[in-house]
Amino acid sequence: MPLHAQAPAPIPDKTHVIDRSGEPVFELRSVSHSYGRNKVIFDVSLAVWPGEVVGLVGDNGAGKSTLLKIFAGYQHPTSGTLRFMGKDVRFATPADARAMGIEAVYQDLAIVDQLSLWRNFFLGKEIVRTIGPLHVLERQRMRREAQQAISELGLTRVRSVEEPVWTLSGGERQSVAITRAMHFGAKLLMLDEPTAALSVRETRNVLASIGRARDHGLGVLYIDHNMNHVLPVADRIVLLELGRVVRVMDRGEVSLEELQDLIARRP
Ligand SMILES: Nc1ncnc2c1ncn2[C@@H]1O[C@H](COP(=O)(O)OP(=O)(O)OP(=O)(O)O)[C@@H](O)[C@H]1O
Ligand SMILES: [Mg+2]
Repeated sequence: MPLHAQAPAPIPDKTHVIDRSGEPVFELRSVSHSYGRNKVIFDVSLAVWPGEVVGLVGDNGAGKSTLLKIFAGYQHPTSGTLRFMGKDVRFATPADARAMGIEAVYQDLAIVDQLSLWRNFFLGKEIVRTIGPLHVLERQRMRREAQQAISELGLTRVRSVEEPVWTLSGGERQSVAITRAMHFGAKLLMLDEPTAALSVRETRNVLASIGRARDHGLGVLYIDHNMNHVLPVADRIVLLELGRVVRVMDRGEVSLEELQDLIARRP
């Protein structure tokens, strides 16, 4: 177990109340999924509301990443329905999901090491001015906007948007990706083990960024093996076991020890 596994948790925001009277940001209804003949997801229903962090937990192979890939348009469910902002949707590609405002942040981020932070921030969303036949990158504007977003959204440790991304730590990169999702108006943010291999301090920064995304009104689907990380930020915790949802727990309903026992238990 890494040293930081028992890191003290940040203090939960107890005043945070989620309004579940409207439509969820995103919803899976009775979704099943097979890889070839191997059925790995069984009749899963799951919803994330605006301003809600849903912690998706379960043992290795439970199907957490597969559910995230279905949300992100990388996998098409074998059966069941996907709904986004109250409407049925079907994503032909991950780009379809992103265009709607669904952002996924993985451990190995789609970030280009050699490029500066601001170039990464605008990667695929560059601001371009057309002058006659020419398309010119609006560099100054992108630098300014990236710098502003990063300081407004609380990433104060980032020194300059000119820095190449390889000079950032793993945690800073995760935080930049979360900030980027907020800046471009994502509605749903999904994170697959963003704190794996991060130090205690970096983990705290990433958890704080998740809190800011939630306060910004995004729905967040958060996968992590470390319950010390999940428990303080998750408003609800969904436990998957061999592709099935076996428990849905509200914040405060379950202790750290109970949660760890539930996950370790073999069905
Ligand atoms: N691309 C794939 N092709 C075939 N089978 C796959 C594929 N991806 C995942 N699986 C299988 O689907 C099941 C669920 O895997 P998944 O990666 O979703 O689990 P997980 O809960 O994310 O696990 P972990 O905690 O180890 O990341 C596993 O049995 C796995 O072997
Ligand atoms: Mg996984």
